This record gives sequence, C-alpha cells and structure tokens, in this order.
Amino acid sequence: MAEVLLLLIIFLFFSLIVSLSSGADTITANRSISGDETITSKDESFRLGFFKAGNSSNYYIGMWYNKVSTDPPTVAWVANRETPVSDRFSSELKIMDGNLVLLNESKSIIWTTGVNSSSSSSSSSSVVAILLDDGNLVLTSGLLNSNVTIWQSFDFPAHTWLPGARLSYDNRTRTKKLLTSWKSNEDPAEGLFSLELDPIGEQYLIRWNRTTQYWTSGSWDEKDKLFSLVPEMRLNYIYNFSYVSNENESYFTYSLYNPSIISRFIMDVSGQVKMLSWLDATKQWNLFWSQPRQQCEVYDYCGAFGSCRQSGLPFCNCLTGFTPRSQSDWDLNDFSRGCVRKTDLQCGRTSEKYGFLRISSTRSNKPPNSTSLAVGSSGACESSCLSNCSCNAYSYDNNNGCSIWDTELLNLSGDDNNEITINVKVASKDLPSDKKDNGLIIGAVVGSVIGVVLLVGLIWFLIRRNNRRFIGQTTVEGSLVSFVYRDLQTATKNFSEKLGGGGFGSVFKGTLPDSSVVAVKKLESVSQGEKQFRTEVSTIGTIQHMNLVRLRGFCSEGNSKLLVYDYMPNGSLDAHLFSKDKLLDWKTRYQIALGTARGLVYLHEKCRDCIIHCDIKPENVLLDADLCPKVADFGLAKLVGREFSRVLTTMRGTRGYLAPEWLSGVAITTKADVYSYGMMTFELISGTRNSEQSEDGRKKFFPMQVADALIDGVDILKLLDPTLNGEASLEEVTKLCKVACWCIQDDEENRPAMSQVEQILDGVLDVNMPPKPRSLQLFVDNNDAVVFFTESSTSSSSQAHSNPSSRVSQAKSAASL
Ligand SMILES: *[C@@H]1O[C@H](CO)[C@@H](O)[C@H](O)[C@H]1NC(C)=O
Ligand SMILES: *[C@@H]1O[C@H](CO)[C@@H](O)[C@H](O)[C@H]1NC(C)=O
Ligand SMILES: *[C@@H]1O[C@H](CO)[C@@H](O)[C@H](O)[C@H]1NC(C)=O
Ligand SMILES: *[C@@H]1O[C@H](CO)[C@@H](O)[C@H](O)[C@H]1NC(C)=O
Ligand SMILES: *[C@@H]1O[C@H](CO)[C@@H](O)[C@H](O)[C@H]1NC(C)=O
Ligand SMILES: *[C@@H]1O[C@H](CO)[C@@H](O)[C@H](O)[C@H]1NC(C)=O
Ligand SMILES: *[C@@H]1O[C@H](CO)[C@@H](O)[C@H](O)[C@H]1NC(C)=O
Ligand SMILES: *[C@@H]1O[C@H](CO)[C@@H](O)[C@H](O)[C@H]1NC(C)=O
Ligand SMILES: *[C@@H]1O[C@H](CO)[C@@H](O)[C@H](O)[C@H]1NC(C)=O
Ligand SMILES: *[C@@H]1O[C@H](CO)[C@@H](O)[C@H](O)[C@H]1NC(C)=O
Ligand SMILES: *[C@@H]1O[C@H](CO)[C@@H](O)[C@H](O)[C@H]1NC(C)=O
Ligand SMILES: *[C@@H]1O[C@H](CO)[C@@H](O)[C@H](O)[C@H]1NC(C)=O
Repeated sequence: MAEVLLLLIIFLFFSLIVSLSSGADTITANRSISGDETITSKDESFRLGFFKAGNSSNYYIGMWYNKVSTDPPTVAWVANRETPVSDRFSSELKIMDGNLVLLNESKSIIWTTGVNSSSSSSSSSSVVAILLDDGNLVLTSGLLNSNVTIWQSFDFPAHTWLPGARLSYDNRTRTKKLLTSWKSNEDPAEGLFSLELDPIGEQYLIRWNRTTQYWTSGSWDEKDKLFSLVPEMRLNYIYNFSYVSNENESYFTYSLYNPSIISRFIMDVSGQVKMLSWLDATKQWNLFWSQPRQQCEVYDYCGAFGSCRQSGLPFCNCLTGFTPRSQSDWDLNDFSRGCVRKTDLQCGRTSEKYGFLRISSTRSNKPPNSTSLAVGSSGACESSCLSNCSCNAYSYDNNNGCSIWDTELLNLSGDDNNEITINVKVASKDLPSDKKDNGLIIGAVVGSVIGVVLLVGLIWFLIRRNNRRFIGQTTVEGSLVSFVYRDLQTATKNFSEKLGGGGFGSVFKGTLPDSSVVAVKKLESVSQGEKQFRTEVSTIGTIQHMNLVRLRGFCSEGNSKLLVYDYMPNGSLDAHLFSKDKLLDWKTRYQIALGTARGLVYLHEKCRDCIIHCDIKPENVLLDADLCPKVADFGLAKLVGREFSRVLTTMRGTRGYLAPEWLSGVAITTKADVYSYGMMTFELISGTRNSEQSEDGRKKFFPMQVADALIDGVDILKLLDPTLNGEASLEEVTKLCKVACWCIQDDEENRPAMSQVEQILDGVLDVNMPPKPRSLQLFVDNNDAVVFFTESSTSSSSQAHSNPSSRVSQAKSAASL
C-alpha cells in the first residue's frame, strides 16, 4: 500500500513538473506573469520575467540569457524601458484585448504591444505570446488558429541586436529600427546613443541624441562581405552579416557561423558598439570588438562642460568651476547631463567678476556651435565675450579670428593638444588662482594652511625616509626590489619621458641612482589587493630568460602600482619594422623570429606555471643593444584581472593578431600565442602590417598572398619586404613563411607548439606546406583567379604538414587567465 502511495506521489510530482515546464514558454489568456514567475524559451536559451536594474528599486519586464551565469543576469531586451514598476508582485504581464500588456500596481496599463485589436477582434481572446529560442517574443493569433505573427519583439530592439533580428529602414513609412543604449547600467530607458542603418550609404551610423553622427562603419561591400571602414572583419568568422535592400525596405541581419556560440552585439552605455562572447571557462563576457575604439571618440560622452581624457580613470571630469548637473547620474557613469556652473552667469548685474579658464583643443574638433565675430584682436574678442552675458567662451587664433560660444560647450577633450586655446568664462571666485580680493583674510588662512601642510609634510618626509631606508635594505621579494614611489618619480624626472603606452599602462624611461637605465611601467586599473599583487609580481620576477624582458622591481603604494624593467635601448620591433629609416637585415629578422620563439617556449613550457602571453605583437617584442629580441609584458593579464577585456579592446583592432578562438568563446590555450606569433612573423617578412590596405583598399591580405604563393610555387622572394632588395636566404624565407602559415591555422589543434617552431627555425625539424587557413578564405575576393581550397580539396591536396608523432605534448591551458 505504501509503495502504491509512493508511486502515486512520484507520479503526481512528475506530472506537476511536466505541466510546469510544458507551455512554460507562452503567456496565454489564462496564464500571466507576476512577481518571480518567468517563462523560458523551449531550448532554455532565454528567460522572460521581472528583473531589477542594478541597485535601483525599479523593476522591468525583460528577457535575459538563461544559460549565462552572470549576476545580475545579462538582459537582452526590455519591454517597459521608460516605465518601471516598484512592486513586481502586484504588477502583471498579461494578455488583454488581443495585446500583451503590463499592468502596474494600480492596474493601469503602463506598457502594451499596441496592436489595433479591433481589426483582429475575432481571434483576440486566443492571442498568445511565445518566447522563441532565438530570443524573439512573438504575439500570435493563437495556438489553434493559423499562427499569424501580430507583433514581435525583434521589431522593437532595445540595446541588443540578436542574431536573426533586422536593423532596418522601411521605405514606405520612412521609419528606422534602431538600437539604443541604456541611459546607465541601472536605467534601461533610452540613452543618447543609437546605432542605425543609413540606407543611402548602405552603412551603419552611430548617432548622439539621434542627430550628430560620430562613427560610421563605411559602406557595405557585398563582394567581400565587410564594411569598408571595418577591415578587421576580414578576420571575423563568427558573424555572417547580410544586407538586403528592395523597394519596400532595407536591412542588415546576421547569423552566427557556429550557432552554439553565445555572442551578443550591443549599443553600450559607453556610446560604443560592442561584440562580446560568453567564455564559459572564465564565466565572463569576453569583449572582442568595440567601436569607436577610444572612449573619448564618443561624441560628447562627458556631456556639456565635461571633458574627456583617454588616459584618465574616470574618463570624465567637469571643468574647473563646474559641477555635475546630477551627481547621482554621474556616479553611475551616466555623464549625459554634463556639468553646470557652480556660480551662474549673472546677467544684468555687474557685481560678479569673471575670469577665463584656458582649455586646449584641436582645430578640427572644436566644440560645435560657435559663431565668429569680426573683431581684429584677441583682446577685443575677450572683451566682447565679457560684455555679452550669454557668452560662455571665446577663442582667438590668427587663422580663424574670433569665435564665440553662446551655447553650452560640448565634446571637450581633456588631452593637451595645444592647437587652439578656448577661454571659458567662469566666475572669478571659482577659478583657482584668484587672490585679488579679500587679500588679508585669505592671506591669513592660506598662511596657516601652508604652515600645517609644511609641518605634516616634514613629518611625512621623515617617516618616508625611515621607511625607505627600511625598504631599500630589507623588503626585497626574491630577486625583486620594492621601490618607493617618490624614488621612481625622481628616477623618471616625474614621468616625463614616455617610451610608449600599451594596454596595461604607460611606460617611462628612468635612471636609477646607480645610473642604470630602466623602463618604468605605470599600471592602470589594477583590481587586485596588495597581497595578491605582490604574489603575482614575485611570480613574474622569477621568470628569467635571455629572450624575456627582465623585471627588476616594483612599487605598490595605494593605487599606484608600477613595474620596473630593464631598459631596451633599441625600442620595440614595430618601430624598426614599419619605419623605413631603421632597416633590419634578413639575418636579424630571422634571429628575431627565433629568439621570440625561444622566449615563448620558455613561457609556455619551462616555467613552473604555464604562462600564456595573450598579446604577442611587434610592440611587445623589444630589442636590446645587440638587436636581440626580448618579449615584454608577459604575466600581466592576471595582474589586471577583470579589466582584461578592456585591455583587449585597446590592443586589438585592425591588426588582427588574435586567434579566432578569442572570438568563439572557448578557453584560451598557448596556441593563441602561436597564432599571434604567426601573424607577427608575416610582418617580419613583409615589413608592413598585415592589415595595411593599399590606396584603393583592394590589396590582398598578406598571409593570403603567402599561402597562395607557397601552394602555387611562385617565387616567394617576390613577396619579401622590398627594402631588403631580395637579399635573403631563399631557404630561410620559405621556412619562415611555412611556419607562419602553420601557426595561423584556424583550429588550434592544427597549429604547432612553440617548441616545434623553435626546432624548425633551428633546423632540427623539417616543415611541410600546411593547408591554407580556412578563415582567410571567408572574406577574400570571390573573383580571385587563384581558386582557394574548399573542404574537400584541402584534404586531397594537403601533404601531411606535420608529423603527428613529433608533436610535443601541449602546454596546459588557461593557466594565466
Ligand atoms: C481559459 O480557461 C477557461 C476556463 O477556465 C477555458 O474555458 C478557456 O478555454 C481557457 N482559455 C484558453 C485560451 O486556454
Ligand atoms: C550596488 O551597491 C553595492 C553596494 O553599495 C555596490 O558594491 C555595487 O557596485 C552596486 N552595483 C551597481 C550595479 O551599481
Ligand atoms: C500606475 O500607472 C498610472 C498611469 O501611468 C499612474 O497614474 C499610477 O500612479 C501608477 N500607479 C502606481 C502605484 O505607480
Ligand atoms: C483600428 O482598426 C479599425 C478597423 O481596421 C479602424 O477603423 C480604426 O481606426 C483603427 N484604430 C486605430 C487606433 O488605428
Ligand atoms: C507556426 O506554424 C508553423 C506550422 O503550422 C510552425 O512551423 C511554426 O513554428 C509556427 N510558428 C510559431 C511562431 O509558433
Ligand atoms: C537631444 O535633443 C532634444 C531635441 O531633439 C533636446 O531637447 C535635448 O535637449 C537634447 N539632449 C541633449 C543632452 O542635448
Ligand atoms: C550567411 O548568411 C546567408 C544569408 O542568411 C546564408 O545564405 C549563408 O548560407 C550564410 N553563410 C554561412 C557560411 O553560414
Ligand atoms: C523607396 O521608395 C521610393 C518611392 O516611394 C522609390 O522611388 C525608391 O526607389 C525606393 N527606394 C529603394 C531603395 O528602393
Ligand atoms: C513590396 O510591398 C508590396 C506591397 O505590400 C508587395 O506587393 C511587394 O511584393 C513588396 N516587394 C518586395 C520586394 O517584397
Ligand atoms: C569629438 O571629440 C573627439 C575627441 O576629441 C573627436 O575625435 C571627434 O571628432 C569630435 N567630434 C566632433 C563631431 O567634433
Ligand atoms: C549645433 O551644431 C550641430 C552640428 O554641429 C547642429 O546639428 C545643431 O543643430 C546645432 N545646435 C544649435 C543649438 O545650433
Ligand atoms: C550677445 O551675443 C548674442 C549672440 O551672438 C547676440 O545675439 C546678442 O545680440 C549679443 N548681445 C549683446 C548685448 O551684444
């Protein structure tokens, strides 16, 4: 009896689960959503229900990625963007009069699909909303009737463009479907940035406030399947874009070559379009492409009277004498409302005194909406601004004369690019150097403040001096020296001689007291704690090899994190390779290829923990006094932690040193470095960037040319950097070309290990011709006379390019990520 009861319970339990899960992708007249209830698409890719945006107390109906485990969930679509509710339990998403509507706490409709229900009244009671596997929420006329789509969320995109959806222009109604950014990470309401289709130019535009255009993809090239100003699409092989245009409408749409990849395309709150894919190994969205590349290229990102500085964090600051219009928005990185004067301009009253704040700008990027005034001198220009109450700023230069801004100043840059000076009118009392009035009181106050500051400074100095002696003598971690910030400041003459800037921060030249020359790297945005930082740094310190740049020491004081390296007098490889005045002969290039390979073998296979460099490119191969190559910047990915994806965006771009697996979301192995090494090797051979295009933009991708030449048996020396005048060993050039082709195979399994590369270049191992990498074929000219390989011809014509048994055991994966 008990068994029967148990069976019955189990049966009931299962039928309950079945009834819960079946139909859980639809909202019907009898089934609405409230509180924590959700519906899920059949394949469980997407879920729809109430979600809370950030720390605000607002709830929205949204759709999020169900298989992606971020907290908060990653939202792909929002219904009531502008009209949140605060109590999700007394709000309800339901079918009403043939529409899907959202009722707020007092049962008022605050969002609706807005279909004219009287035209389809016969079936309005049977209307259902279904969440499909592709993330499209469709309203159809019922399960039993013909399932005509009445409304679909794909026609009302929010900030995410899902595969299969169309960004379109309707030629009949003259309307566009745009992608619009959120206002901030806590507010999905429509922000200022939008991505839209320009049907005339067959291109994408990003616009600010639906008007000012600040980025374009360039026109669509149907033959090459890419946008003219996005040449890196040549290396794209996850998005399959297509463009359709007829008399009724024009649209772009895309699919994923590999549908199992979870990838998203968004118009971000930063004003940039971004492509990200989900990396299951790190449980993070991996950003692999964004445009405009620099945050400060986004038009008016910092709002009126806010200035944008690319090297600063945060990027935005109000001008002196100004303060955020809304501090709470500002704190959420929503800078759109900009800054306002601390002291308003006093019209009609003369008591207020004004001064001018000088800021710099380039001629071409002056803030918009100035008017020119026909006055002959800087002084006259200044006094017309002073005397006109509505004048916010003036600028005078000999070419353009006097310009006056009556409007707010937009799109200000905080970088010093002293082409022209803009003088912003600010109340004198808000300017820093004002000492004219109230001389006595201010003098007394300033005097005592200075006294205190001096005293504190003296004490601090004494403490510091003690500390320093202490540090200098004892706290040496392994072979690393722990430097004091102030010493590095002195050594680098207050960071005056910049050697370069990479993804992780700027590098400055310095001279230590013992007169040894060093390169000091100021790390940006280190997200780690003190202890973890020291652990990582001492790990890097133990890595020493003649083809790796040696870390000598570090500094960690509060937010200042610096690394001190040996100085490389010959700079980085790119400077030699791409500027024709410092020529590298072939022998040196070959040695650079070999030395770099050795450095990478050490990182991949000889260290205690395998290290993936993640950023091999000519900028990161430094040359010592004898032009011996040394790999720089290894081990830093872990130091900067979460910020790594930001770093990746700044370092990639048109150059394409990144292996395809970076895009596809699988775990990164040492083979990603092998790919980048291969791309760099092509540049050693050609002396130009692979990505470089000829004037007409039609030059063939160099790796492709090499692959073709090798296969066709064309004279490979013809492809060599012309500045070498053919002075090179044919055998070595051929060998290097083959190695490079082997390194850039699409499938990482088919690429060699760095140790194999080393052996080949050393002459210990032979190399056969590898097959032509498939990803290169996707975006090449279809009319190209050289027929490229299809899957079947690849297998028939490829001689076994590697001896599988010679394959060195592969380094373990993902150790440095
Ligand atoms: C809703 O439920 C009622 C009875 O509860 C039933 O008559 C009706 O057919 C149901 N409608 C749908 C669309 O399932
Ligand atoms: C929410 O608040 C917590 C604590 O105040 C903070 O750490 C977190 O960053 C906030 N989240 C967002 C998205 O602002
Ligand atoms: C619900 O929406 C209506 C109409 O927008 C509004 O008047 C009412 O105040 C809202 N109720 C609540 C509780 O917010
Ligand atoms: C809805 O459709 C009916 C019949 O097609 C039409 O008469 C009515 O004007 C429409 N209403 C709106 C608001 O478009
Ligand atoms: C509509 O019905 C057709 C077949 O009748 C089916 O293939 C299709 O998936 C249905 N579409 C939706 C949105 O249910
Ligand atoms: C955006 O444009 C609208 C008019 O279309 C204007 O009212 C609004 O002030 C503009 N926003 C900003 C931040 O300039
Ligand atoms: C790319 O998309 C087009 C149009 O949707 C399709 O015809 C084509 O087969 C797709 N290509 C690949 C390789 O998936
Ligand atoms: C859009 O429609 C107009 C007529 O309304 C037509 O002249 C024009 O050619 C159409 N545009 C395209 C791209 O077909
Ligand atoms: C454009 O719309 C008209 C009227 O709806 C239709 O007859 C025609 O087939 C459409 N053209 C295309 C190319 O879809
Ligand atoms: C805005 O400023 C940025 C950075 O200075 C610049 O690249 C851009 O061209 C400017 N935009 C306009 C429309 O002036
Ligand atoms: C400011 O200049 C932009 C173009 O740079 C223009 O679109 C806009 O209408 C102007 N605004 C005013 C208030 O004149
Ligand atoms: C101030 O400048 C504005 C715009 O240039 C102009 O229209 C106005 O007449 C000026 N006022 C005075 C008092 O000069």
